[in-house]
Amino acid sequence: MKIHHIGYLVKKLPRAAEAFEALGYVRLGDVTADGYRKVDILFLEKDGYVIELVSPNAPDSVVAGLIKTYKNAPYHICYLCGDLEKESECLVSAGYFQIDAPMPAPALEGRRVCFLIHPQMGMVELLEEAR
Ligand code: NI
Repeated sequence: MKIHHIGYLVKKLPRAAEAFEALGYVRLGDVTADGYRKVDILFLEKDGYVIELVSPNAPDSVVAGLIKTYKNAPYHICYLCGDLEKESECLVSAGYFQIDAPMPAPALEGRRVCFLIHPQMGMVELLEEAR
């Protein structure tokens, strides 16, 4: 699996985006609201690295708890995979725990993603390849 992006939790997305831009990051598209997870998302790129800014947009957002712990910080690495079910099963058999069922990601053309957690590694995201 190849790395697709690094997920970066931020409290205030617009101001965080400006701060990244000041360091030379370039926006990839616009801010997208993900209604499934209740987060706002913006992708930025610098030197071939893609960063996904993620900010909760409702009190019951999936990252509402995480942002209290992490504040502004990277919190997951997303891997691109050909077969989402197969790769997630493979990780589960290797000791990962699957947090959610595969769901469409509005910020990624509706391609499905799922999240897993590893006791020593923290959170990873799997993203299915574009068809
Ligand atoms: Ni992500």
